Amino acid sequence: MCGIFGIISNKSNLEVGKLIREGLERLEYRGYDSAGIAVVNNGAIELRKKSGRIADINKNGWLDSIPGQFGVGHTRWATHGKPVQHNAHPHLDCTGKIGIVHNGIVENYQDLRKELLLRGHDFKSDTDTEVFTHLIEEFIAKGFDLKDSVIQTVKKCRGAYGVVVIHADTPDYMIVARKESPLVLGIIPGESTYCASDIPAFLPLTREAIILDDDEVAILKPGEVEIYGVHEGKKKNISPFEVSYSIDAAQKSLDGVQFPWYMIKELHEVPQKIKEQVQIPQTDLDGFCKAIMDADHVFITAAGSSYYAALAGKFQITRCGGPYIDAVLCSEFVDLVPKLSKNSLVIAISQSGETADTIEAVRYARDKWNAKICSIVNVVGSSLTRYSDHVLITTAGPEIAVASQKAFCTQVTALSLIGLRIAELHNTISKNEVTMYKEALAATSKITQQILVEQGKIKEIAGKLMDFENVYFLARGISSAAALEGALKLKEVAYIHTEAYAAGESKHGPIALIEDGFPVIFVSPPDETYDRMIGNVMEMKSRGAVVYSIVSATDEKITSISDYTIRIPFLDSKYAIDTCVVPCAFVLQLMAYFISIKKGLDPDKPRNLAKSVTVK
Ligand code: F6R
Repeated sequence: MCGIFGIISNKSNLEVGKLIREGLERLEYRGYDSAGIAVVNNGAIELRKKSGRIADINKNGWLDSIPGQFGVGHTRWATHGKPVQHNAHPHLDCTGKIGIVHNGIVENYQDLRKELLLRGHDFKSDTDTEVFTHLIEEFIAKGFDLKDSVIQTVKKCRGAYGVVVIHADTPDYMIVARKESPLVLGIIPGESTYCASDIPAFLPLTREAIILDDDEVAILKPGEVEIYGVHEGKKKNISPFEVSYSIDAAQKSLDGVQFPWYMIKELHEVPQKIKEQVQIPQTDLDGFCKAIMDADHVFITAAGSSYYAALAGKFQITRCGGPYIDAVLCSEFVDLVPKLSKNSLVIAISQSGETADTIEAVRYARDKWNAKICSIVNVVGSSLTRYSDHVLITTAGPEIAVASQKAFCTQVTALSLIGLRIAELHNTISKNEVTMYKEALAATSKITQQILVEQGKIKEIAGKLMDFENVYFLARGISSAAALEGALKLKEVAYIHTEAYAAGESKHGPIALIEDGFPVIFVSPPDETYDRMIGNVMEMKSRGAVVYSIVSATDEKITSISDYTIRIPFLDSKYAIDTCVVPCAFVLQLMAYFISIKKGLDPDKPRNLAKSVTVK
């Protein structure tokens, strides 16, 4: 949450404001309620900030034209203090010489603020961040240099931070520090250095990157970085690595085609991303699989869409002969699992690898109960990867749209691969069945491609659903994961109230809301639940519901009792149907997108949300 982008360079005639604004726009998915830039300009700090989205704030080039040599910007997702101008970052100290941006939460900010107020500091915002500026101001006044002032300050602050600090009197460097909030550095050796919350922000400028670790502080000079440990104070020798993914990842174009929104561009990436996921070397899964099979109790945890992927995955792993897995929402993990038995294992799923609740669950299981951690993560080098014994990186690549879609599809695919590798290594299902499942999994890439080609029907149904205020999603078994994902997407990007229920649960309460015209979406692949689903469709129809069903291309029975159907070209085999979550969820993700744009909304940046939820 919140995006940070900073630049220091020795290149002449650099348009610093414009470069920072462009970097912030590439990070806007992390928060978009206010933004600002501070730069050092001939011994003073120039500051421009406002509430609203960057494009509006920058009308007439207001941010682009800020004069200065180097500086930092921030795009905010409000936690402490409303999204108004005085709470927007950067924040300045009392002297106006120190500028700071921050991502994270200072947990003890109230105590620190009280002390600072008593010592006469003038606070201009309601944020937790501002305590940093005044603490640094005090350490500078005591004679510490800027780096040591930042070190002393972060030692006093409890919580999470990615911070960038500039000082009007130090025109040749700036300082960054990190703990539990992401901060990455980009370098053009000898020329420019960038700092950002995420790599795509500087990808058009450089591919040389360093991922700052927890409790590290760095001095950034043009094209040069010095990294120190906050506690031991020692200089570290860290070399940059080359970012392998393409610049396309951070842009709205794909294979030369320009898309209007990241969400639809990323949905078009799904077929290729599944293909890449299926092709990862099988031996990469072995450590992960062994850890699962060696554990006495296995949990799986995640939030939001990643949790729904986890639900599909736990089912697949058990079906393939792996252990039964307990799924627990990461935000509930500490409260619902008061004790973990010896030799427990937690599988954590996360696109960003930075979700605070997921990290809390993992650290609790690991530090308190000595559990092993296996994680499936999309972002290389993210915090979750550092707390894990085994990591499987998904092939989705950078996901910019706030609502997850391609990450979900690759997470489900990765979990299915783990199930199949367990089956292979432990002979839990026959070799022939493993082969059939693998073929079915690989075919989901082609099926999603086909769905994209035949998207007309999904658009048509989107048109019929767009004006409803409430929609139910019903499914049984593994398809529930697709229904939950579809319901969440529609809620997020189209602001329609949705609920996803196990179809059998509906008559235990939810059916009370059904009256003439109430829309119900059934996810009904022809699996072992099919006949029971027919009964559930009939229960809804006979009470006046309008039934929309996701069915196979050859379906007859549910089609005959539904008002509308979307037909998925599954392969004609039990194994293909068992692998139906990704195609079914993909249809629903596309549908949510079409409804969002038909309603004139912004599908990339739903209100009140941000990608990478780094607060609990
Ligand atoms: C939904 C969505 C969120 C995330 C959730 C977990 O479209 O994007 O529900 O899935 O915030 O985030 P990660 O996967 O980064 O841990």
